[in-house]
Amino acid sequence: MLGSGGREHALAWKLAQSRFIAEEGGTLYACPGNPGIDEYAELVEFDVGDHAAVGDFCAANGVDFVVVGPEQPLVDGLADTLREQGIAVFGPSKAAAQLEGSKGFTKDLCDRAGIPTAGYVRTTSLDDANAALDRFAPPYVLKADGLAAGKGVVIADSRGEAEAALAEMFGGAFGPESLGAGAEVVIEEFMEGEEASYFAITDGATIVPFGGAQDHKRVGDGDTGPNTGGMGAYSPAPILSAQVRGEAIQRIIGPTVRAMADAGTPYVGVLYAGLMLTSEGPKLVEYNCRFGDPECQVLMMRLESDLGEYLYACATNSLSSLPPPKFSDDTALTVVMAANGYPATPAKGGVIKGIEIAEATGAKVFHAGTARRGGKLVANSGRVLDVTAMGRGVAEAQRRAYAAVDAIEFPSGFCRRDIGWRELARRNA
Ligand code: AMP
Ligand code: GLY
Repeated sequence: MLGSGGREHALAWKLAQSRFIAEEGGTLYACPGNPGIDEYAELVEFDVGDHAAVGDFCAANGVDFVVVGPEQPLVDGLADTLREQGIAVFGPSKAAAQLEGSKGFTKDLCDRAGIPTAGYVRTTSLDDANAALDRFAPPYVLKADGLAAGKGVVIADSRGEAEAALAEMFGGAFGPESLGAGAEVVIEEFMEGEEASYFAITDGATIVPFGGAQDHKRVGDGDTGPNTGGMGAYSPAPILSAQVRGEAIQRIIGPTVRAMADAGTPYVGVLYAGLMLTSEGPKLVEYNCRFGDPECQVLMMRLESDLGEYLYACATNSLSSLPPPKFSDDTALTVVMAANGYPATPAKGGVIKGIEIAEATGAKVFHAGTARRGGKLVANSGRVLDVTAMGRGVAEAQRRAYAAVDAIEFPSGFCRRDIGWRELARRNA
């Protein structure tokens, strides 16, 4: 397994329970892993950006199956290199990972396949982009093409703000030097609604729904302040009703997987659909070619089936041979503990204590960005811990998660105190 965050800690925890590892003598390696993953996997260190080095490690250690956590290696084509070597990979090819890697690619695919999403214009010139604003009403949604670590999207309330943002995008702030995104911009219609994350795994032909969650992207309580990678999540998200989930598969994910297969670039792995739940039904905001983080943590808490079997079946074109995976009906809720200053300037090095006490309450603490220094556990990244609990509904899961949060000593960190608020507000309405 490749990766080092809370998502990968949750995946490693479940993979270690897989019959492949727990019963059949398999070994789970993680590169680079983290201090939490260390409990479940043998940590190894090589440069994941060097695809030949990954292949060499697999060959030298008899690795026959690779699970890729983050998107960057997939967008760079790591899965292609490993497959050429005969290694099974959970994760899409470079061509299929464009669903995350290129917003323009995905918008064009949606357009051709009639998939519900925001109307859009793609453009590579500042003049055309400014002219295209005439075709939209505020707020303006402007996206730099390519991976931009969540920083490539600007929502501008006025025409002036939109023009300034476009000038900056074409001027290089999101350009090749800084974030690796190309000088193409997508301008989109603004969609009104609540957002939710929906997941499906696929071997390129068979599609298996794999749960839904609601993330909390803003740094502050009540969804205020700057965007982050995600400050907490819960699953299931009741707002993803059976009707919405059905529509998401029928009208969005199904046509996408078919279009990728028809193009000769079948999508293998997890397809994470960021959905906007509008008055006209679910519409696609974006695709990611990986599990969400922290959504993965709550999905893994609820998953009762053997994760390894499902991921391996995706990688070996045999998903149709498995029964539907089982998930607990209970709610899992995770609270992200972040380092002070996150997302702009997180303070690294702060000491963390009390994880054992937190876990004694029945919660599970995933390491998102920690390191061991001189016998101490310290913060090593913006998002540091994912404190996760189960309960018979959002309220109980939330109470348990915060009880565990309060057992952790992390004076140089903070968390939101309202994870799950949308659902609780609906309940109380
Ligand atoms: P993306 O990176 O495409 O997921 O965009 C980041 C965030 O911007 C999303 O999670 C939404 O909150 C918001 N967003 C993106 N596209 C739209 C849209 N067309 N309408 C409304 N909000 C959007
Ligand atoms: N939590 C949002 C993401 O993983 O992109």
